Parts: sequence; structure tokens; C-alpha cells
Amino acid sequence: MNSEPRGAVEPGPVVNVRTGGFGLGYRSELMDEISNAAYVDTLEVLSEQFFDSKSRELLRELAAAYHVVPHGTGLSIGSFTRPRPEYLQSIRQVCDEIGADYYSEHLCMTRAPGVNMGHLGPLLPSRASVDIVARNVDIVQNELGLPLALENITQPLILPSPDMSEAEFFSEVIDRTGALVLLDITNLYTNCVNQGRDPDAELSHMPLDRVRHVHLAGGRWRDDVLVDSHSHPVPDAVWELLKTVSSITRNFNLIIEHDQNYADPATIVSQVARAREVVLT
Ligand SMILES: [Fe+2]
Repeated sequence: MNSEPRGAVEPGPVVNVRTGGFGLGYRSELMDEISNAAYVDTLEVLSEQFFDSKSRELLRELAAAYHVVPHGTGLSIGSFTRPRPEYLQSIRQVCDEIGADYYSEHLCMTRAPGVNMGHLGPLLPSRASVDIVARNVDIVQNELGLPLALENITQPLILPSPDMSEAEFFSEVIDRTGALVLLDITNLYTNCVNQGRDPDAELSHMPLDRVRHVHLAGGRWRDDVLVDSHSHPVPDAVWELLKTVSSITRNFNLIIEHDQNYADPATIVSQVARAREVVLT
């Protein structure tokens, strides 16, 4: 395995990656239903699940039948410490196995030296954070030789910052790095509901021209907080936001995220058909 960096990915207005796919996050519990749904052509895999070479056979089988796109949770792109070379090497092996043309991660922090938070921690929206993320995005794109798509996360509170708002921070990072956007519409909606903001206004501040990947999911209420639990059907308000996004761009792959509560696989998987209809009509 060649461990040399592949070279910089030039930031720029146009990054051509394969888009137009509709599907779900790969979950073994859903595969019987998915295999009977001809409208599902794309699966998103969690790269960390396939770091072990013993799991690669399954990865190859999935890639033979579907457009497989890799996604991760452990990069910690906002950490002051640099991305770990061995972790990047494992990602690169997964990407090579499926011929990925981009890699996606959350704009967040999950690690500090010696500590794995086990949680997607929000970053302080500051110029210092932009600098750190920009340095790390360069390292990752250089090592993988692929563009990185950054995902907006849910967070329970607004971190106070004199520099910029959460949406300005996201846009600043994308402008500065040339990274692509994984727009999680449910995350945007959930933050707006919990923080008392208007989702349409929030959406209008996102760099939609850089979107190449979209997530939809459904959460649940816990007391008076909307929790992004990936356990329920996508709510109507999120479908409406998808309509708005689709009126601006359709240049993305769309993934339904459903990670628990598999009692009704038909309903879960059929959301992919609805997504196709919303985006394409
Ligand atoms: Fe997501």
C-alpha cells in the first residue's frame, strides 16, 4: 500500500464528483427491504466499520451492487492536534476499495490529546477555529487525494462568539478550504427548532453551491428538546426544506439516515422514493 500523500486537491468553484444518487446509510437490518427497492441506487457506509480488512469482502459486495459513498465520524477535523496518519491511511484504504470520489465528515471535534469524546462536539465559531479546520482539511485532502465534504452538525446550544454566527462559520470554512458541503437538512432544522431560529433563513445563509451530498433523518422529542436520533420518519418540515434546496441545486447524492428503531423497514426505505420525487419533480 502506497502511503505517500496523493497531493493537494485544489480549492475552486467546481469539483466534479458523481452525484444524482438516492439511498440510505448501510444497515444490515434494512438490506432485505433495500434489495427489493429498485429506486435505491446508493448506500452510504461508515468507513470505520470497514477498517478491519476482514470486512472488506462485504464492502466489495456492496460496491458491486450500489454506488457506495464513504462517511466518517472520527476525523475530528476541528481538533488542534493534526489528523492521525494511521486513521487517514485506513480511510484511504476504504475509499480505494470502493473507488470513492469524495469523503465526508462532520465539522466538529471528537478528540483531544488522549481523549476520545465519543460525541460530535461543536466548534467555537471563531477565526482561530477556521484556521485550525483549514489546516486540517488541507492535510486530509492531501493525504486522501479526494475532496472532503463537511457536514453541519446538531448542537444543543449556541456557543457565544464575538467573531461570527454558526452559519457564517460554516460558510467561512467552506470558502477558505474549498471543501464540499454535506448538508444535513435535519441537523439544520433541529438546531433551528431547539434554538428558536427560522430554518428558511438559516438555509439561505448556507453555501448551497458547494452541496454535493444531503442527509435527511427523523428525530424524536425528549421533553421540549428535539433530539436528532435517526429513529423516526423524516418530518414534513424537513421535506419542505428539501424542496427549497432542490429549487437551487440538485447536484447531490441524497441519503436517508436511520440508525435505530427498525420495526417498519418498508416505511423507512420508502422515504428514498419520496426523496426522488421531491428532488426530481
Ligand atoms: Fe447526518
